[in-house]
Amino acid sequence: MSLSEVSAVAPDDDAVWKPLPNAARRINQILEKPRKVYVTRKVHFNAAHRLFNPTFTDEQNCDVYDICNNFYGHGHNYDLEVTLAGIVNKDTGYLFDLKILKKLLEEEILSKVDHKHLNFDVEMFKDTVPTAEVIAVVFWDVIDRKLKTLNLEGVELYEVRVFESERNFVVYRGE
Ligand code: NI
Repeated sequence: MSLSEVSAVAPDDDAVWKPLPNAARRINQILEKPRKVYVTRKVHFNAAHRLFNPTFTDEQNCDVYDICNNFYGHGHNYDLEVTLAGIVNKDTGYLFDLKILKKLLEEEILSKVDHKHLNFDVEMFKDTVPTAEVIAVVFWDVIDRKLKTLNLEGVELYEVRVFESERNFVVYRGE
């Protein structure tokens, strides 16, 4: 808007929106129709892994994982995105309190994997090959199990995304 368009005159009284008295108001009427939303929390961690299947021969491991030149593994800057889904609560306007998911991810995931070697330091990855695919599936099971104990009514785990790099990521939806 240019300065010349700014009106110096107060707007007409009828043009200003005014709330009704609280007793007469119907808040979040827009949510009377059930609205399904997807709410995501994104977290970051650093970890090392070695892609190696102990039941393969050395030659097979080199063929499949191309890791023969890096016996002790390598590190990644991982991102994890966890999405919950459900119908928005009409009264609060929330699907759920995001603090709950923040705390869950800190306690159940980050405290266990951040700055760890996934093959050796992290029990949830014992006897796995911790590819991004396997990480996504393992995280799903951990998060889903914990969520169910919290009884967040009408809220379900929808998706787990594990980014191994900016360009490569895996999506798991519990199927
Ligand atoms: Ni890697």
